[in-house]
Amino acid sequence: MKHDEQKRAVAREALRYVVDDTWLGVGTGSTANFFIDELAKVKQRIKGAVASSVATAERLKAHGIVVEELNNVSDLPVYVDGADEVTSHGAMIKGGGGALTREKIVAAVARKFVCIADASKKVDVLGKFPLPVEVIPMARSYVARELVRLGGFPAWRMGFTTDNGNVILDVSGLSIVAPFVLEDRINGIAGVVTVGLFARRGADVILLGGEAGVETIRVDPGGRRQVGNDGRHRA
Ligand code: 5RP
Repeated sequence: MKHDEQKRAVAREALRYVVDDTWLGVGTGSTANFFIDELAKVKQRIKGAVASSVATAERLKAHGIVVEELNNVSDLPVYVDGADEVTSHGAMIKGGGGALTREKIVAAVARKFVCIADASKKVDVLGKFPLPVEVIPMARSYVARELVRLGGFPAWRMGFTTDNGNVILDVSGLSIVAPFVLEDRINGIAGVVTVGLFARRGADVILLGGEAGVETIRVDPGGRRQVGNDGRHRA
């Protein structure tokens, strides 16, 4: 299967996790777009969707799916979204599409995160894909210097502004063997809005599209809390 066919296959599979008569969190990106197109075929099953970006909200609305503000939704059983990299422990790099902050907020509210991706996104150690960091514009240079101190090589995503009016630094050169620690460390830099490292709130279920079909990985929540993506236990 080609990548697009794999993305469509996981998008279809993700429909199994949609809970009838509830609100559904919907992510951003090309895989999420396949999911939205599949969701449109069964839209009567749900109350509507909470979108993780303006682009996703527009696509949902174009399909006639009701879009509700997160502030008006107290219970979100499921969030479906893609990833740029994902480990078998459910830790992810996200934000290739620049929607990382809203994605992290919707994921935080959701009770279950279903990650949909083609098999090329599965890695043993995160960091080959440059790690996106959303930054308040006036802090860009300062945050970049701090990221260099952490061993990274930040690049300003020129000409791109997030839905929140901020800029993105894409950080290459990191081998992320302790994702929890790095997530907290980068989030602690003044001026950082969000790091696109989803370790503390990782995926609960990973649907990977490969040559042979869709592989389902159910992440053990205990394991996610205790194990780094190198398999070493963390305090
Ligand atoms: C957007 C994201 C996406 O989920 C991620 O970039 C994957 O996108 P795609 O499905 O197009 O590969 O985090 O901010």
